[in-house]
Amino acid sequence: MKVLYVSSEALPFMASGGLADVAGSLPKALRKRLIGCRVVMPLYDGIKPELKEQMKFLTSISVPVAWRRQYCGIFEAKVDGVIYYLLDNQYYFKRDGIYGYYDDAERFAFFSRAVLEMLPHIDFKPDIIHCNDWQSALTPVYYTTMYSHWSGYENIKTVFTIHNIQYQGVYGKELIPEVLGLPEECTNIIEYDGDVNFMKGAIETANRITTVSPSYANEILDPWYSHGLDTILRERSWKLTGILNGIDTESYNPATDPDIFAHYSAEDFSAKADNKRALQELMGLPQRADVPLLGMVTRLAGHKGLDLVRAVLDEMLSTSDMQMIVLGSGEWQYEEFFKEMAAKHPDKFALKLGFVPSLSRKIYAGADLFLMPSKSEPCGLSQMIALRYGTIPIVRETGGLRDSIQDSGDGKGNGFTFASYNAHDMMNAVRRAMEGYSQKDGWQILMKRAMECDNSWGKSANEYIRLYNAVLKE
Ligand code: GLC
Repeated sequence: MKVLYVSSEALPFMASGGLADVAGSLPKALRKRLIGCRVVMPLYDGIKPELKEQMKFLTSISVPVAWRRQYCGIFEAKVDGVIYYLLDNQYYFKRDGIYGYYDDAERFAFFSRAVLEMLPHIDFKPDIIHCNDWQSALTPVYYTTMYSHWSGYENIKTVFTIHNIQYQGVYGKELIPEVLGLPEECTNIIEYDGDVNFMKGAIETANRITTVSPSYANEILDPWYSHGLDTILRERSWKLTGILNGIDTESYNPATDPDIFAHYSAEDFSAKADNKRALQELMGLPQRADVPLLGMVTRLAGHKGLDLVRAVLDEMLSTSDMQMIVLGSGEWQYEEFFKEMAAKHPDKFALKLGFVPSLSRKIYAGADLFLMPSKSEPCGLSQMIALRYGTIPIVRETGGLRDSIQDSGDGKGNGFTFASYNAHDMMNAVRRAMEGYSQKDGWQILMKRAMECDNSWGKSANEYIRLYNAVLKE
Protein backbone atom coordinates (compact mmCIF):
# COMPACT_ATOMS: atom_id res chain seq x y z
CA MET A 1 0.00 0.00 0.00
CA LYS A 2 1.24 3.49 -0.83
CA VAL A 3 0.14 6.58 1.08
CA LEU A 4 0.87 10.18 0.13
CA TYR A 5 0.55 12.30 3.27
CA VAL A 6 -0.27 15.93 2.45
CA SER A 7 0.42 18.58 5.05
CA SER A 8 1.01 22.33 5.13
CA GLU A 9 3.67 21.80 7.82
CA ALA A 10 5.89 18.94 8.95
CA LEU A 11 8.84 18.56 11.27
CA PRO A 12 11.76 18.88 10.88
CA PHE A 13 11.12 21.36 8.04
CA MET A 14 8.51 23.80 9.32
CA ALA A 15 6.17 23.90 12.30
CA SER A 16 3.56 26.15 13.83
CA GLY A 17 1.62 23.59 15.85
CA GLY A 18 0.73 19.96 16.50
CA LEU A 19 0.04 19.15 12.85
CA ALA A 20 3.77 19.41 12.16
CA ASP A 21 4.51 16.89 14.92
CA VAL A 22 2.00 14.46 13.47
CA ALA A 23 3.22 14.89 9.88
CA GLY A 24 6.76 14.39 11.16
CA SER A 25 6.08 11.20 13.09
CA LEU A 26 3.07 9.24 11.76
CA PRO A 27 4.67 8.59 8.33
CA LYS A 28 7.74 7.18 10.08
CA ALA A 29 5.52 4.88 12.17
CA LEU A 30 3.62 3.75 9.04
CA ARG A 31 6.87 2.93 7.28
CA LYS A 32 7.97 0.78 10.24
CA ARG A 33 4.79 -1.19 9.60
CA LEU A 34 5.78 -1.62 5.95
CA ILE A 35 3.40 0.94 4.53
CA GLY A 36 5.01 3.03 1.80
CA CYS A 37 4.36 6.55 3.02
CA ARG A 38 5.73 9.78 1.60
CA VAL A 39 4.95 13.34 2.61
CA VAL A 40 4.33 16.45 0.51
CA MET A 41 4.43 20.03 1.79
CA PRO A 42 5.24 23.56 0.54
CA LEU A 43 8.85 24.67 0.30
CA TYR A 44 8.79 27.64 2.65
CA ASP A 45 11.51 30.24 2.64
CA GLY A 46 11.95 29.83 6.41
CA ILE A 47 13.15 26.22 6.22
CA LYS A 48 16.63 26.06 7.76
CA PRO A 49 19.51 26.27 5.22
CA GLU A 50 21.00 22.94 6.37
CA LEU A 51 17.71 21.22 5.52
CA LYS A 52 17.39 23.10 2.23
CA GLU A 53 20.86 21.89 1.28
CA GLN A 54 19.73 18.29 1.55
CA MET A 55 16.93 18.79 -0.96
CA LYS A 56 17.32 17.47 -4.47
CA PHE A 57 15.61 19.20 -7.39
CA LEU A 58 13.54 16.68 -9.35
CA THR A 59 11.73 18.68 -11.99
CA SER A 60 9.40 21.60 -12.52
CA ILE A 61 5.82 21.67 -13.73
CA SER A 62 3.16 24.28 -14.24
CA VAL A 63 0.02 24.15 -12.14
CA PRO A 64 -3.36 25.66 -13.06
CA VAL A 65 -4.73 28.28 -10.65
CA ALA A 66 -8.18 29.01 -12.12
CA TRP A 67 -7.44 30.59 -15.57
CA ARG A 68 -3.72 31.11 -14.87
CA ARG A 69 -0.76 28.75 -14.58
CA GLN A 70 1.95 28.94 -11.97
CA TYR A 71 5.44 27.46 -11.80
CA CYS A 72 5.98 24.62 -9.33
CA GLY A 73 9.39 23.15 -8.58
CA ILE A 74 9.42 19.66 -7.10
CA PHE A 75 12.19 18.96 -4.60
CA GLU A 76 12.85 15.77 -2.66
CA ALA A 77 14.49 15.14 0.72
CA LYS A 78 14.82 12.08 2.92
CA VAL A 79 14.50 12.23 6.71
CA ASP A 80 14.67 9.11 8.91
CA GLY A 81 13.94 6.99 5.86
CA VAL A 82 10.83 8.99 4.86
CA ILE A 83 10.77 10.78 1.50
CA TYR A 84 9.43 14.33 1.58
CA TYR A 85 8.40 16.26 -1.53
CA LEU A 86 8.70 20.01 -1.15
CA LEU A 87 6.76 22.12 -3.64
CA ASP A 88 8.40 25.36 -4.60
CA ASN A 89 6.86 28.57 -5.81
CA GLN A 90 8.63 31.67 -4.60
CA TYR A 91 5.70 33.99 -5.25
CA TYR A 92 3.55 31.99 -2.81
CA PHE A 93 6.06 30.66 -0.29
CA LYS A 94 9.06 33.00 -0.20
CA ARG A 95 7.60 34.83 2.79
CA ASP A 96 8.15 34.86 6.55
CA GLY A 97 6.34 32.21 8.55
CA ILE A 98 3.65 29.92 7.23
CA TYR A 99 0.16 31.44 7.37
CA GLY A 100 -1.50 34.78 7.86
CA TYR A 101 -1.34 36.35 4.37
CA TYR A 102 -4.21 38.03 2.49
CA ASP A 103 -3.94 35.41 -0.25
CA ASP A 104 -3.69 32.26 1.91
CA ALA A 105 -6.70 30.84 0.06
CA GLU A 106 -4.84 31.08 -3.24
CA ARG A 107 -1.53 29.86 -1.79
CA PHE A 108 -3.09 26.68 -0.46
CA ALA A 109 -5.43 26.17 -3.44
CA PHE A 110 -2.24 26.18 -5.50
CA PHE A 111 -0.59 23.72 -3.12
CA SER A 112 -3.60 21.38 -3.03
CA ARG A 113 -3.77 21.26 -6.80
CA ALA A 114 0.00 20.96 -7.26
CA VAL A 115 -0.11 17.77 -5.16
CA LEU A 116 -2.26 16.15 -7.86
CA GLU A 117 -0.39 17.70 -10.79
CA MET A 118 2.89 16.35 -9.42
CA LEU A 119 1.83 12.69 -9.47
CA PRO A 120 2.81 11.82 -13.09
CA HIS A 121 6.24 13.35 -12.43
CA ILE A 122 7.33 11.29 -9.42
CA ASP A 123 8.02 7.58 -9.10
CA PHE A 124 5.25 7.04 -6.57
CA LYS A 125 1.64 6.28 -7.44
CA PRO A 126 -0.35 6.52 -4.19
CA ASP A 127 -3.30 4.27 -3.38
CA ILE A 128 -4.31 6.73 -0.67
CA ILE A 129 -3.91 10.49 -0.51
CA HIS A 130 -4.21 11.57 3.11
CA CYS A 131 -4.87 15.30 3.55
CA ASN A 132 -4.89 17.40 6.68
CA ASP A 133 -6.79 20.52 7.73
CA TRP A 134 -8.15 23.24 5.44
CA GLN A 135 -4.83 23.97 3.76
CA SER A 136 -4.93 20.66 1.86
CA ALA A 137 -8.71 20.21 1.93
CA LEU A 138 -9.02 21.08 -1.76
CA THR A 139 -6.98 18.05 -2.86
CA PRO A 140 -9.93 15.62 -2.39
CA VAL A 141 -12.24 18.22 -3.94
CA TYR A 142 -10.09 18.54 -7.08
CA TYR A 143 -9.51 14.80 -7.20
CA THR A 144 -13.19 13.93 -7.10
CA THR A 145 -14.42 16.65 -9.43
CA MET A 146 -11.63 16.77 -12.00
CA TYR A 147 -8.87 14.17 -11.78
CA SER A 148 -10.41 10.82 -10.82
CA HIS A 149 -11.23 9.85 -14.40
CA TRP A 150 -7.98 10.99 -15.95
CA SER A 151 -5.66 8.25 -17.04
CA GLY A 152 -3.05 7.48 -14.41
CA TYR A 153 -5.25 8.88 -11.65
CA GLU A 154 -7.79 6.07 -11.34
CA ASN A 155 -8.68 4.35 -8.07
CA ILE A 156 -7.01 6.65 -5.63
CA LYS A 157 -8.85 6.96 -2.30
CA THR A 158 -8.74 10.11 -0.21
CA VAL A 159 -8.69 10.48 3.56
CA PHE A 160 -9.09 13.86 5.26
CA THR A 161 -8.07 14.53 8.87
CA ILE A 162 -9.46 17.41 10.91
CA HIS A 163 -6.84 18.59 13.41
CA ASN A 164 -8.86 21.60 14.46
CA ILE A 165 -12.35 22.38 13.19
CA GLN A 166 -12.04 26.02 14.14
CA TYR A 167 -9.94 26.78 11.06
CA GLN A 168 -12.00 25.86 8.00
CA GLY A 169 -10.73 28.07 5.21
CA VAL A 170 -13.81 30.27 4.76
CA TYR A 171 -13.74 32.87 1.97
CA GLY A 172 -16.05 34.82 -0.32
CA LYS A 173 -17.58 33.17 -3.36
CA GLU A 174 -15.63 35.37 -5.78
CA LEU A 175 -12.80 32.93 -5.11
CA ILE A 176 -14.45 30.28 -7.29
CA PRO A 177 -13.78 31.77 -10.74
CA GLU A 178 -10.65 33.69 -9.75
CA VAL A 179 -8.72 31.14 -7.72
CA LEU A 180 -10.35 27.74 -7.45
CA GLY A 181 -11.31 27.05 -11.06
CA LEU A 182 -13.79 24.30 -10.22
CA PRO A 183 -16.24 23.18 -12.90
CA GLU A 184 -19.45 25.18 -12.55
CA GLU A 185 -21.65 22.16 -11.86
CA CYS A 186 -19.45 21.26 -8.86
CA THR A 187 -19.28 24.54 -7.01
CA ASN A 188 -22.04 23.51 -4.59
CA ILE A 189 -19.54 21.07 -3.08
CA ILE A 190 -17.44 23.90 -1.79
CA GLU A 191 -20.22 26.32 -0.82
CA TYR A 192 -21.54 26.54 2.71
CA ASP A 193 -23.62 29.16 4.45
CA GLY A 194 -23.22 31.59 1.56
CA ASP A 195 -19.43 31.30 1.52
CA VAL A 196 -16.70 29.08 0.17
CA ASN A 197 -15.59 26.60 2.83
CA PHE A 198 -12.54 24.45 2.04
CA MET A 199 -13.03 22.03 4.94
CA LYS A 200 -16.67 21.44 4.04
CA GLY A 201 -15.54 20.52 0.51
CA ALA A 202 -13.23 17.85 1.90
CA ILE A 203 -15.96 16.53 4.21
CA GLU A 204 -18.15 16.10 1.13
CA THR A 205 -15.60 14.52 -1.16
CA ALA A 206 -13.04 12.53 0.87
CA ASN A 207 -13.70 8.80 1.17
CA ARG A 208 -13.06 8.97 4.90
CA ILE A 209 -12.85 11.74 7.48
CA THR A 210 -10.86 11.29 10.61
CA THR A 211 -10.13 13.49 13.53
CA VAL A 212 -7.45 13.20 16.14
CA SER A 213 -9.28 11.64 19.09
CA PRO A 214 -12.44 9.55 19.57
CA SER A 215 -13.93 12.11 21.97
CA TYR A 216 -13.42 14.97 19.51
CA ALA A 217 -15.08 12.88 16.78
CA ASN A 218 -18.22 12.92 18.94
CA GLU A 219 -17.85 16.50 20.10
CA ILE A 220 -17.75 17.99 16.58
CA LEU A 221 -21.25 16.62 15.95
CA ASP A 222 -22.38 19.16 18.55
CA PRO A 223 -22.80 22.87 17.74
CA TRP A 224 -20.85 23.87 20.88
CA TYR A 225 -17.69 22.45 19.30
CA SER A 226 -18.38 22.32 15.56
CA HIS A 227 -17.96 25.97 14.50
CA GLY A 228 -20.97 25.51 12.24
CA LEU A 229 -20.10 22.18 10.63
CA ASP A 230 -22.16 19.81 12.84
CA THR A 231 -25.06 19.45 10.40
CA ILE A 232 -22.91 18.33 7.51
CA LEU A 233 -20.82 16.12 9.77
CA ARG A 234 -23.90 14.43 11.20
CA GLU A 235 -25.05 13.69 7.65
CA ARG A 236 -21.64 12.20 6.90
CA SER A 237 -21.04 10.62 10.28
CA TRP A 238 -20.82 7.15 8.70
CA LYS A 239 -17.42 8.08 7.33
CA LEU A 240 -16.10 9.89 10.43
CA THR A 241 -13.79 8.26 13.00
CA GLY A 242 -11.48 9.49 15.73
CA ILE A 243 -7.95 8.12 16.04
CA LEU A 244 -5.84 9.42 18.91
CA ASN A 245 -2.49 10.86 17.89
CA GLY A 246 0.72 9.44 19.21
CA ILE A 247 3.97 11.28 19.93
CA ASP A 248 7.46 10.63 18.65
CA THR A 249 8.79 8.82 21.71
CA GLU A 250 12.31 8.73 20.24
CA SER A 251 12.48 12.48 20.02
CA TYR A 252 10.61 13.09 23.29
CA ASN A 253 12.70 10.90 25.52
CA PRO A 254 14.03 12.22 28.86
CA ALA A 255 16.79 9.60 28.73
CA THR A 256 18.32 11.10 25.57
CA ASP A 257 16.78 14.54 24.91
CA PRO A 258 19.73 16.86 24.15
CA ASP A 259 17.70 19.95 25.09
CA ILE A 260 17.19 19.10 28.77
CA PHE A 261 19.64 19.63 31.63
CA ALA A 262 19.93 16.07 33.01
CA HIS A 263 18.76 12.72 31.68
CA TYR A 264 16.44 10.32 33.50
CA SER A 265 14.00 7.49 32.88
CA ALA A 266 11.00 5.72 34.44
CA GLU A 267 13.44 3.38 36.21
CA ASP A 268 15.39 6.18 37.85
CA PHE A 269 14.03 9.68 37.76
CA SER A 270 16.11 11.20 40.52
CA ALA A 271 17.75 13.54 37.95
CA LYS A 272 14.38 15.17 37.25
CA ALA A 273 15.12 17.32 40.33
CA ASP A 274 18.25 18.68 38.60
CA ASN A 275 16.10 19.74 35.67
CA LYS A 276 13.78 21.55 38.03
CA ARG A 277 16.60 23.42 39.75
CA ALA A 278 18.21 24.45 36.46
CA LEU A 279 14.88 25.54 35.02
CA GLN A 280 14.10 27.67 38.08
CA GLU A 281 17.51 29.31 37.72
CA LEU A 282 17.04 29.90 33.99
CA MET A 283 13.64 31.52 34.55
CA GLY A 284 14.76 33.58 37.54
CA LEU A 285 12.67 31.76 40.15
CA PRO A 286 13.94 30.79 43.62
CA GLN A 287 15.64 27.39 43.40
CA ARG A 288 13.46 25.40 45.74
CA ALA A 289 12.99 21.66 45.46
CA ASP A 290 9.95 21.51 47.74
CA VAL A 291 7.59 23.91 45.99
CA PRO A 292 5.24 22.54 43.31
CA LEU A 293 6.20 23.96 39.90
CA LEU A 294 3.39 24.22 37.39
CA GLY A 295 4.23 24.50 33.69
CA MET A 296 2.20 25.67 30.74
CA VAL A 297 3.36 25.59 27.10
CA THR A 298 0.62 26.82 24.84
CA ARG A 299 -0.52 29.07 22.08
CA LEU A 300 -2.16 32.01 23.84
CA ALA A 301 -5.50 31.47 22.11
CA GLY A 302 -8.95 31.50 23.67
CA HIS A 303 -9.74 27.83 23.10
CA LYS A 304 -6.73 26.83 25.20
CA GLY A 305 -8.73 27.77 28.31
CA LEU A 306 -6.85 30.95 29.17
CA ASP A 307 -9.99 32.68 30.41
CA LEU A 308 -10.07 30.21 33.27
CA VAL A 309 -6.44 30.89 34.10
CA ARG A 310 -7.02 34.63 33.96
CA ALA A 311 -9.98 34.38 36.31
CA VAL A 312 -8.14 32.67 39.19
CA LEU A 313 -4.36 32.84 38.72
CA ASP A 314 -3.81 35.93 40.84
CA GLU A 315 -5.77 34.35 43.69
CA MET A 316 -3.88 31.07 43.34
CA LEU A 317 -0.48 32.75 43.34
CA SER A 318 -1.43 35.01 46.26
CA THR A 319 -2.67 32.20 48.48
CA SER A 320 -0.51 29.15 47.61
CA ASP A 321 3.12 28.25 47.98
CA MET A 322 3.67 27.43 44.31
CA GLN A 323 5.59 28.44 41.20
CA MET A 324 4.45 28.68 37.62
CA ILE A 325 6.17 29.06 34.25
CA VAL A 326 4.28 29.96 31.07
CA LEU A 327 5.77 29.69 27.57
CA GLY A 328 3.71 30.78 24.61
CA SER A 329 2.61 33.61 22.40
CA GLY A 330 -0.61 34.71 20.81
CA GLU A 331 -3.43 37.04 21.70
CA TRP A 332 -2.45 40.39 23.11
CA GLN A 333 -4.94 40.26 26.00
CA TYR A 334 -3.35 37.08 27.41
CA GLU A 335 0.21 38.25 26.82
CA GLU A 336 -0.60 41.41 28.77
CA PHE A 337 -2.24 39.45 31.57
CA PHE A 338 0.74 37.15 32.00
CA LYS A 339 3.17 40.08 31.92
CA GLU A 340 1.18 41.64 34.73
CA MET A 341 1.37 38.40 36.75
CA ALA A 342 5.14 38.20 36.23
CA ALA A 343 5.53 41.77 37.49
CA LYS A 344 3.25 41.21 40.48
CA HIS A 345 4.58 37.79 41.57
CA PRO A 346 8.27 37.74 40.51
CA ASP A 347 9.15 34.96 42.96
CA LYS A 348 6.34 32.73 41.85
CA PHE A 349 5.56 33.38 38.21
CA ALA A 350 7.86 33.48 35.17
CA LEU A 351 6.94 34.13 31.56
CA LYS A 352 8.60 33.63 28.22
CA LEU A 353 6.69 34.92 25.21
CA GLY A 354 7.41 33.05 21.99
CA PHE A 355 7.60 29.63 20.36
CA VAL A 356 10.83 28.14 21.71
CA PRO A 357 10.95 24.34 21.28
CA SER A 358 14.15 23.85 23.31
CA LEU A 359 12.70 25.76 26.29
CA SER A 360 9.44 23.83 26.04
CA ARG A 361 11.41 20.61 26.54
CA LYS A 362 13.13 22.08 29.59
CA ILE A 363 9.70 22.88 31.01
CA TYR A 364 8.36 19.37 30.30
CA ALA A 365 11.40 17.98 32.12
CA GLY A 366 11.68 20.49 34.96
CA ALA A 367 8.07 21.14 36.01
CA ASP A 368 6.14 18.93 38.44
CA LEU A 369 2.70 19.68 37.02
CA PHE A 370 1.46 20.64 33.56
CA LEU A 371 -1.72 22.65 33.04
CA MET A 372 -4.03 22.30 29.98
CA PRO A 373 -7.50 23.65 30.80
CA SER A 374 -8.59 23.76 27.13
CA LYS A 375 -12.11 24.73 26.17
CA SER A 376 -11.68 22.35 23.25
CA GLU A 377 -8.69 20.17 22.40
CA PRO A 378 -8.90 17.95 19.32
CA CYS A 379 -6.03 15.81 20.61
CA GLY A 380 -3.33 17.77 22.36
CA LEU A 381 0.21 16.47 22.36
CA SER A 382 1.66 18.39 25.30
CA GLN A 383 -0.15 16.31 27.89
CA MET A 384 1.38 13.16 26.38
CA ILE A 385 4.83 14.71 26.26
CA ALA A 386 4.41 15.83 29.89
CA LEU A 387 3.56 12.24 30.90
CA ARG A 388 6.66 10.98 29.12
CA TYR A 389 8.76 13.40 31.22
CA GLY A 390 7.01 12.45 34.48
CA THR A 391 5.24 15.80 34.74
CA ILE A 392 1.68 15.28 35.88
CA PRO A 393 -1.01 16.80 33.63
CA ILE A 394 -3.98 18.76 34.96
CA VAL A 395 -6.54 18.86 32.15
CA ARG A 396 -10.13 19.61 31.33
CA GLU A 397 -12.01 16.53 30.19
CA THR A 398 -12.40 17.35 26.52
CA GLY A 399 -11.28 15.80 23.21
CA GLY A 400 -7.93 14.08 23.33
CA LEU A 401 -7.29 15.28 26.88
CA ARG A 402 -10.23 13.18 28.00
CA ASP A 403 -8.96 10.21 25.98
CA SER A 404 -5.40 10.30 27.32
CA ILE A 405 -5.61 11.52 30.94
CA GLN A 406 -7.55 9.85 33.75
CA ASP A 407 -7.95 11.38 37.18
CA SER A 408 -5.73 9.74 39.77
CA GLY A 409 -8.25 10.30 42.58
CA ASP A 410 -9.06 6.60 42.62
CA GLY A 411 -5.38 5.64 42.83
CA LYS A 412 -5.21 4.47 39.21
CA GLY A 413 -5.07 7.43 36.82
CA ASN A 414 -2.18 9.45 35.42
CA GLY A 415 -3.23 13.04 36.14
CA PHE A 416 -5.88 15.39 37.51
CA THR A 417 -9.00 16.30 35.57
CA PHE A 418 -12.05 18.54 35.79
CA ALA A 419 -15.18 18.40 33.68
CA SER A 420 -16.97 21.71 33.29
CA TYR A 421 -15.42 24.81 31.77
CA ASN A 422 -15.29 26.65 35.05
CA ALA A 423 -12.39 28.49 36.68
CA HIS A 424 -13.06 27.24 40.20
CA ASP A 425 -13.30 23.64 39.05
CA MET A 426 -9.90 24.14 37.41
CA MET A 427 -8.50 25.71 40.58
CA ASN A 428 -9.84 22.83 42.60
CA ALA A 429 -8.05 20.34 40.32
CA VAL A 430 -4.79 22.31 40.67
CA ARG A 431 -5.22 22.32 44.46
CA ARG A 432 -5.81 18.55 44.50
CA ALA A 433 -2.68 18.12 42.39
CA MET A 434 -0.61 20.28 44.75
CA GLU A 435 -1.96 18.34 47.70
CA GLY A 436 -0.93 15.11 45.95
CA TYR A 437 2.51 16.57 45.29
CA SER A 438 3.03 17.15 48.98
CA GLN A 439 2.64 13.43 49.67
CA LYS A 440 6.04 12.32 48.47
CA ASP A 441 5.60 8.54 48.36
CA GLY A 442 2.31 8.56 46.53
CA TRP A 443 3.70 11.15 44.12
CA GLN A 444 6.65 8.94 43.17
CA ILE A 445 4.22 6.17 42.30
CA LEU A 446 2.10 8.54 40.22
CA MET A 447 5.17 9.84 38.36
CA LYS A 448 6.28 6.35 37.52
CA ARG A 449 2.80 5.43 36.31
CA ALA A 450 2.73 8.57 34.15
CA MET A 451 6.12 7.81 32.61
CA GLU A 452 5.09 4.28 31.82
CA CYS A 453 2.02 5.33 29.79
CA ASP A 454 2.50 4.29 26.18
CA ASN A 455 1.62 7.14 23.85
CA SER A 456 3.88 6.07 21.00
CA TRP A 457 2.34 5.79 17.54
CA GLY A 458 2.10 1.98 17.56
CA LYS A 459 -1.58 1.50 18.29
CA SER A 460 -2.78 4.52 16.32
CA ALA A 461 -0.63 3.76 13.27
CA ASN A 462 -2.27 0.34 13.18
CA GLU A 463 -5.69 1.99 13.32
CA TYR A 464 -4.82 4.16 10.33
CA ILE A 465 -3.65 1.07 8.45
CA ARG A 466 -6.96 -0.67 9.20
CA LEU A 467 -8.81 2.39 7.94
CA TYR A 468 -6.70 2.57 4.74
CA ASN A 469 -7.33 -1.12 4.11
CA ALA A 470 -11.05 -0.74 4.64
CA VAL A 471 -11.34 2.20 2.27
CA LEU A 472 -9.26 0.45 -0.42
CA LYS A 473 -11.72 -2.45 -0.43
CA GLU A 474 -14.68 -0.21 -1.27
C1 GLC B 1 -4.15 20.79 16.36
C2 GLC B 1 -5.03 20.59 17.57
C3 GLC B 1 -4.35 19.73 18.65
C4 GLC B 1 -3.80 18.47 18.01
C5 GLC B 1 -2.89 18.80 16.83
C6 GLC B 1 -2.35 17.58 16.12
O1 GLC B 1 -3.09 21.64 16.67
O2 GLC B 1 -5.43 21.83 18.12
O3 GLC B 1 -5.25 19.40 19.66
O4 GLC B 1 -3.05 17.74 18.96
O5 GLC B 1 -3.62 19.55 15.88
O6 GLC B 1 -3.37 16.74 15.63
